Amino acid sequence: MKIVKTIQELQYLLKKEKTASRTIGFVPTMGYLHDGHLSLIKRARKESQIVVVSIFVNPLQFGPNEDFDRYPRDLERDTKLAEDAGADVLFCPETTEMYPDKPVVTVAVHRRTDALCGKSRIGHFDGVATVLTKLFNIVAPDKVYFGMKDAQQVAVVKGLAEDFNFSLEVIGCETKRESDGLAMSSRNVYLTQKERTEASHLYQSLIKAKNWLLDLESGETEKKMIEYLEEQTNGTVEYCKILSYPELLSPTAFDEKLIIAVSVRFSKARLIDNMIIDNV
Ligand code: PAJ
Repeated sequence: MKIVKTIQELQYLLKKEKTASRTIGFVPTMGYLHDGHLSLIKRARKESQIVVVSIFVNPLQFGPNEDFDRYPRDLERDTKLAEDAGADVLFCPETTEMYPDKPVVTVAVHRRTDALCGKSRIGHFDGVATVLTKLFNIVAPDKVYFGMKDAQQVAVVKGLAEDFNFSLEVIGCETKRESDGLAMSSRNVYLTQKERTEASHLYQSLIKAKNWLLDLESGETEKKMIEYLEEQTNGTVEYCKILSYPELLSPTAFDEKLIIAVSVRFSKARLIDNMIIDNV
């Protein structure tokens, strides 16, 4: 596996692969890799000839009171994990390489962000869309892989790829879970032991909500989810929402797909999870 720190070196390397008509699969990450990230790399390995993984903690997508400075980082460990999962190239630029100066132009996301995480994390998806626009231009992949754990991110990235005519396929991959159902996340390391036990109830609340929805209106189901999580955890429930997917609007009978989404704030970590269901 080649480790590349500059944009120029990466583009030089990938130009050779493109000239040889090799297909490129790309997995963008912020590092501190876990089995969720690795499942994306393994999927890319199966479907593409060259697999590029990026590790870049993107300052543009963190709010002023968020965890940019203390976001967990371990490049040495990540290098080994990415290589073992099948990456050919690891792109890990410094912040100054990606943003040598304050940007002249950034990307603004106009839809799919008024709900869920977009509502409380103002500017977050603009930051995600901006860094991905840069990375898509730098890597020019055929396929790019994202986890459905961040379903709103997938909805936004699909919009970005369509609206900006990126000629790549955005692939949303299944959420990897711990044995008790907790969605894997780099931020799980922030949980105390007690919170870690309670955190499995996020997934339980999704399973319950799917069943409640068979008999109840979405508003009633949301209320029951909140009650359940307040009973089972000491966290603060930020939202329990049922919306259309991928538009993330109030559901109607005409929507084919719905998302059940949950966010709970624990003492040092805010956890999210979701389930996509067919509208029956
Ligand atoms: P990061 O949080 O590092 O996640 C990188 C990718 O791994 C995302 O597509 C995310 O959805 C996926 N992922 C995380 N947990 C997962 C799990 N349990 N199962 C499957 N996939 C999982 O998301 C970002 O970084 C950034 O916003 C980024 C897209 C890199 C832009 O900066």
